[in-house]
Amino acid sequence: MSDTGARPVLKREIGLFDATALGIGAIIGSGIFVVTGIVAGIAGPAMVFSIIIAGIIAVFSAMSVAELGTYLPEEGGTYAYAQKLISPFAGFIAGWIWIFSNIFVGAAVSLGFAHYFVTIFPSVPVKVIAVVICLIFITINYLGLKGSVLFNNLLVMAKILILLFFIAFGLGFVRLGTFIPLAPEGPVGILSGAALIFFAYTGFARVTIMAEEVRDPEKTIPRSIYLALGISTVIYLFVSIVAVGLAGAPALAHSGSPLADAIGMTGSSGAILVISLGAMIATASVLLTTIMGISRIVFSMARSQDLPPLLGRIHPRFSTPHYAIVITGACMIAALLLADLALVVSVSTFAMLLYYLIANIAALRLPREHRKYPAWVPIIGALSCVGLISFLSPDSWIIGCIGLAIGGVWFFFRRKTVA
Ligand code: ALA
Repeated sequence: MSDTGARPVLKREIGLFDATALGIGAIIGSGIFVVTGIVAGIAGPAMVFSIIIAGIIAVFSAMSVAELGTYLPEEGGTYAYAQKLISPFAGFIAGWIWIFSNIFVGAAVSLGFAHYFVTIFPSVPVKVIAVVICLIFITINYLGLKGSVLFNNLLVMAKILILLFFIAFGLGFVRLGTFIPLAPEGPVGILSGAALIFFAYTGFARVTIMAEEVRDPEKTIPRSIYLALGISTVIYLFVSIVAVGLAGAPALAHSGSPLADAIGMTGSSGAILVISLGAMIATASVLLTTIMGISRIVFSMARSQDLPPLLGRIHPRFSTPHYAIVITGACMIAALLLADLALVVSVSTFAMLLYYLIANIAALRLPREHRKYPAWVPIIGALSCVGLISFLSPDSWIIGCIGLAIGGVWFFFRRKTVA
């Protein structure tokens, strides 16, 4: 990133491999390593269906986002698309709830990291570890994008290999009896589980937030989104089948580190260690791209005067939006100190589903010549986001709506002061 005067400009440094790794880096984290436990309690072994349903719903929104990203490869994702295709207010709300959601994602993955850390070092308090890991990744982002992208690629490769190990090693110990009864809570349990496990897929559009840094964005953005989502979905399916087959849904439901407990059923303490390390790597890599993504959208919004201009300033030496990184990082730490894991996950998912709802509406308003898919794609995308939101808990609705209201008040206040 360089600040050449009136409008800071970003360097195009991200290719297809880096972009796909950014997506997977943002997708595979606390969702599969931790939230699967909560979902096992809600849906039972049928959480496998919850994972499939959430994945299908994610694909519709991903198609809309890919279409939008090709049309308008600008930094800011749906913030930029909705501003252009719906209204400045819709754009602002998209950007605002994205930041809001990802502050809770950051809190969730920091807590997820800490839950697995304590499986190895049980005497350390979970929240202390969560704060420390958050501080470490704020510093890495502060120091610059290039290092962050390379580091992210390494973390992504490591977490994929460790999940493949979980599948391959655990498969031989799977007991089919653990799948009975398959759906103790019926369709409502499956759909509530799908709403929560949607968290595990969020992050697939991360690359659009950084579109001005992507090389050949018209091709790279859609390809990387589909690749990241496809690879993650296949891994999730097999991991969830093996996890249920090893430990059974009730045991997963009572665990803060369900995949470590599941692999523990093989009797191998080495495997527990590997999976715990994998969980820490996965959550750390989500944290890395989350802070990176938040800082970029805050930068975009500040550059457009939707947020205070200070947040758009770029560090003269590290070329990063340093104020944006530090301030949003501080919000993340506040969120993880004030709420528990289940709550931060459902608040984040509530806000992210609203974000994709706006993305689908923006896709519906694309000029005909720029549409890659028929109109029913964003329509199903939008309806399925609303449908999933209705299965989330009332406290996530309340906190999410408070977040939205604060954003709305700021928008009109800012309009008055800027005008
Ligand atoms: N999808 C991300 C995760 O599962 C937020 O951690």
